[in-house]
Amino acid sequence: METDPLPRTHDRLTRRSLLVGIGAAGGAGAMYAAMGVLGLAPTPRTAPVPAVGGAAAPTPYVPPQPSDFSLRGGRPASVLVLGAGVAGLACAYELGKAGYDCTVLEARDRVGGRSLTLRGGDTVTELPPANAAKGAATKAGETQQVTFGEGTYFNAGPARIAQWMVTLDYCRELGVPLEVFVNTNASAYILTEGMTAPVRARTARADAYGYISELLAKATDAGALDSRLTQADKERLLDFLSRFGAIGEKSLAYTGGERRGYRVNPGVGPGTELGTPPSLTEVLSRNLGRMLTMDAGYEQAMPMFQPVGGMDAIVRALAAKVGARRIRTGTRVTRVTNRPDGVEVEVEGGASLKADYCVAALPPHLLAGIPGNLGADVKAALATPVPLSAGKLGLEYGVRWWEIEDRVYGGATETDLDIGHIWYPSYGYHGERGLVVGYYNTGRDAEVYDPLPHRERLRRGLAQGRRVHGVKYGRNIRGSVSVAWRRQPFIEGSWVRWPSMSGFSLLQRPAGRVYFAGDWLTHLIAWQAGAFESARKVVTELHHRVLKEG
Ligand code: PHE
Repeated sequence: METDPLPRTHDRLTRRSLLVGIGAAGGAGAMYAAMGVLGLAPTPRTAPVPAVGGAAAPTPYVPPQPSDFSLRGGRPASVLVLGAGVAGLACAYELGKAGYDCTVLEARDRVGGRSLTLRGGDTVTELPPANAAKGAATKAGETQQVTFGEGTYFNAGPARIAQWMVTLDYCRELGVPLEVFVNTNASAYILTEGMTAPVRARTARADAYGYISELLAKATDAGALDSRLTQADKERLLDFLSRFGAIGEKSLAYTGGERRGYRVNPGVGPGTELGTPPSLTEVLSRNLGRMLTMDAGYEQAMPMFQPVGGMDAIVRALAAKVGARRIRTGTRVTRVTNRPDGVEVEVEGGASLKADYCVAALPPHLLAGIPGNLGADVKAALATPVPLSAGKLGLEYGVRWWEIEDRVYGGATETDLDIGHIWYPSYGYHGERGLVVGYYNTGRDAEVYDPLPHRERLRRGLAQGRRVHGVKYGRNIRGSVSVAWRRQPFIEGSWVRWPSMSGFSLLQRPAGRVYFAGDWLTHLIAWQAGAFESARKVVTELHHRVLKEG
């Protein structure tokens, strides 16, 4: 069973340090690029100053601007952008700031790519399952009608934004209002196959911290760690552990306590605590490692944010800035040809469009299959990243039972069942209805749900969810919709994994006049921020080239 939603790119340390590397290279900024070209650059830039907390201060990104041309007398080029996901839209938006003539070609009938927010009245059509009988590939798969009520939305793709991500800068710039996305909640539940019943996250944490502290304290006290610890270390460690695990000061034993929670909450009366914890053996058998560390990931720490009213507010704002007349939805690219003086892009139906440059912001595995003359090495590089599966089920309930009965306001239940995570909504508190993400799974867990028709996904997801919440998980459901990202037309994957990094650097450079952009070209795969960072890098380089070559 897939237990880690992380895109398995490569070593995490490399991933992070390379991100900084790319940021430094890509964010160099059109200003310096342009100034260098114009011979105006002053002293060479110094190395980025480390910010408090460790991460290097980002080199400021400077968007292309019309004055870059007025100094030099060149002109903004024409650019065909392939794909109206976050990367493609961001490229068109940024280039548009300097007057570039961009046209965005999008195969789907809506913009946003994976940044998909579903509301009542929407439809979701999937490709047939991969293992369907031969010939089925030509047929469309199932279509779901979304029946959610007014005000209910379901972020079927990206849903949470970390504070450090550039996505928040775009929200500021575009005027997209934000609210907190509750990513962890001590009152939400944990259920693993090693447990007979779900427990609240706070209870699981108290027991795990308690017993680990007891073991370490007793070992320390017995002198087992004397080769590592001075007398002063030992005292400090014991002091730390007494607080960390809430263990007895003399006994060093963990016997539970109010951190586990209450059966009857305190009020006028003192309340009734949950009581004695389960045995050490039972707690260890719970397999809590991942469950208790989800928010320790650099990307997942609270507070996180979401746009008010749905994640697609970002792509909608970008599309509005780019302008509807520059975006052609329902337009499938069938050939990409580099010419000495421009790029030619053929679209379904036979029309051919020409521009000075092209930014290909499609999923690499789909781009790899589009004919043209990008070259064998580029094609091989594009075919290297492996598309992965992720799935989400949106469940609209007529009663917010998680708030009323369970006192859970937002956050996530963590499981190692095939449903992965259950998310409670971070909006609409106390409303009449509410949208629970009935499952959010990845990897092999998602592959179990991928081939199923919606009603089977629903049945299976509800059966698993009942193990956490009991019968109420299946009651009062007003509407539901599921998305298997592997089966989304013109996307065909949740995100990608690079089995080897070969090809990664090749695609950082243009193939002739064709540039590549997307989260898959960054160390922020599976984040909109990756798409934005990649777009900024490509825009900076393309603009630099146009200023230089005219
Ligand atoms: N960005 C996605 C999410 O937050 C996928 C992801 C999960 C990426 C965990 C990295 C870590 O769910």
